[in-house]
Amino acid sequence: MKKDSIKKEYKKKIKLLIYYNKRYYNDNYSKITDSEYDELKKDIINLEKKYKYLKSKDSPTLEIGYKPSKNFKKILHRTPMLSLANAFSEGDLLNFEKKILNFLSRNNNSNISYTAEPKIDGISASLSYKNGKLISGLSRGDGKEGEDITSNLATIKDIPKIILSKDFPEEIDIRGEVFIQNTDFDNLKDKFANPRNAASGSLRQKDPKDTQKIPLKFIAYNFGFEKGLKINNQFEYLKKLSEWGFKTNPLNKLITGVKNLIKNYNHVEKQRADLNFDIDGIVYKINDFSLQKRLGYVANSPRWAIAHKFPSNKAISKILDIDIQIGRTGALTPVAKIKPINIGGVLVSNATLHNEDEINRKDIRIGDTVTVERAGDVIPHILSVDLKKRSKKNSKFIFPNKCPSCGSKTIKEFNLITKKNDAVRRCSSEGYYCDKISIEKLKHFVSKEAFNIDGFGKKIVESFWKLNLIRFPQDIFQLDYDKIEKLDGWGKLSVKNLRYSINDKKKISLEKFIYGLGIRHIGLENAKLLSKYFGSFLNFKNLSINNKYNDLINIDGIGETQVNSIKIFFSNRLNLKVLDELGKILSIHNVTAKIKNGLLNNKTFLVTGKLDGISRAEVKSLIEENSGTTVSSVSKKLNYLIVGDKPTKRKVLNAKDLNIKIIDQNQFLKMLDKTS
Ligand code: IVH
Repeated sequence: MKKDSIKKEYKKKIKLLIYYNKRYYNDNYSKITDSEYDELKKDIINLEKKYKYLKSKDSPTLEIGYKPSKNFKKILHRTPMLSLANAFSEGDLLNFEKKILNFLSRNNNSNISYTAEPKIDGISASLSYKNGKLISGLSRGDGKEGEDITSNLATIKDIPKIILSKDFPEEIDIRGEVFIQNTDFDNLKDKFANPRNAASGSLRQKDPKDTQKIPLKFIAYNFGFEKGLKINNQFEYLKKLSEWGFKTNPLNKLITGVKNLIKNYNHVEKQRADLNFDIDGIVYKINDFSLQKRLGYVANSPRWAIAHKFPSNKAISKILDIDIQIGRTGALTPVAKIKPINIGGVLVSNATLHNEDEINRKDIRIGDTVTVERAGDVIPHILSVDLKKRSKKNSKFIFPNKCPSCGSKTIKEFNLITKKNDAVRRCSSEGYYCDKISIEKLKHFVSKEAFNIDGFGKKIVESFWKLNLIRFPQDIFQLDYDKIEKLDGWGKLSVKNLRYSINDKKKISLEKFIYGLGIRHIGLENAKLLSKYFGSFLNFKNLSINNKYNDLINIDGIGETQVNSIKIFFSNRLNLKVLDELGKILSIHNVTAKIKNGLLNNKTFLVTGKLDGISRAEVKSLIEENSGTTVSSVSKKLNYLIVGDKPTKRKVLNAKDLNIKIIDQNQFLKMLDKTS
């Protein structure tokens, strides 16, 4: 055979393999038998062996273990998969319990029982069962939407496919951890960096047969959506899980009181090295489901659970200096500059000291020898000082009573909620009067959640500030582009791009605008509430004229702290000037009330491909204004797929398979009566 025809033959087989993989993973069915599939793979491998010049990124020889596939269908979790807050010390746990007792309005002697579940460091998964049958399995994904890895999960022996127990709920999402035992990992050492990567890599194999080769384990610990679960507490649930055929952690315990949690923690930590699986802490969950329900959630994690982490990454170093950083709200944060040290593979040269109180409590001084900890993605911090190594020369650190940037007095404010002075010391100047605060405010203004100006990051803010190009937010929209073009690292094209992304953000929603101002205590949620309340930029701006601050307290979700902060904002001359100037430059959208029974009520939409003369963001808001919803993937829940130019073929094919209505832009606009 000639070289060309061999290449052609090889390419044909690879194409066929890709096609079968796709059919199998996206649509869950295969046209060929397993042995035919294996035959095809073998053919390809043999060809490669024989003719060394044959190469393809889709070759089955490259498949095992390395590349996570992007081919999995995304599916919404019926209830989100949350994460846990971390605790590192007994103090953190006492604080956790105190907050719970306060929330439940119980006194300090109340005995709270927790399950203590060693936290396996693996990959979490959610398994949906209906009438005792495993119907799907998702990865955690971003917590809201996971990947459909059913076929891969189904290869795991610990995961029951059918459960016949009478008391197994009619419907339930069982959640737990997929992991690999240390002894099994020994055989995979040269392919993966650690057991966690090995588990993750194998779970996301395109071919479940490759997943099956890896001895993955599953331990169940939680549940998401359920219908018909008749259990009142977590410990009982864990017991039921094993009756139903799931594996649970053999070290799970039911424990009352923080003191006993600590005893158990120390005991488990000693056993840690002898276990056949990696654990990085212990998860505590309030046992009683009715209390869990009352406590609910904050942001992304439940109030009723916490992960007590093992001190994994500690090292000893020396404090070279203490720097004071100034934040957007004027908070002075001390940072220890330490002698650079490698902690768990990362070179650490800074450690946060949190605030003045923390420095005093631990009596941290420049020159001290300290234990530094780096755990997870958290900024490294100082655990303790080795007093034996302290030299007499190391004098007590005096926290500055003047702002190092603008020289204003620094103050500790009285907190209306805790009725105590704040631990944080702040610069008392009024925002834009302090340079450091101004820079941080500008960084916030251009940040992702606010104006989201493409290519205008923190570094650019700092360099434009130094060059005197920006002082206030309005300056961003009146940049001297000729000057920028002459700067090092800039050119015609990059300036053109910058100008484009800045002009693009001259149209902005009231909500993002308010958030972007960086008013203290006004985060995204509060900015949303305020924008709904005011409806227009003018109404918002006029607050300083009509003085109706006290009315704001009637907004559900806005409290005294926020009202005060808004008052302070509007009483500052410079802020009013910023508002005036931005009002002239920007076009700030009014908030349109959401129609409850709009034309698109109960209808779901997804757009694929490019639309003509209308952005996706606008389509999304049109849908939402008319009480419809947008979804991010094709599933049975989708009613309409709006198809534009160059759509994703797979989405269209999937929609056809599921009999979903496929419409074009005009048909969509007609639904709103927007054509003509
Ligand atoms: S409960 C809302 N229990 O830790 C409760 N998680 O940050 C969320 N994990 O993503 C999870 N063992 O991967 C829970 N016994 C256990 C766990 C556990 C390990 C992992 C899980 C989760 C992460 C939480």
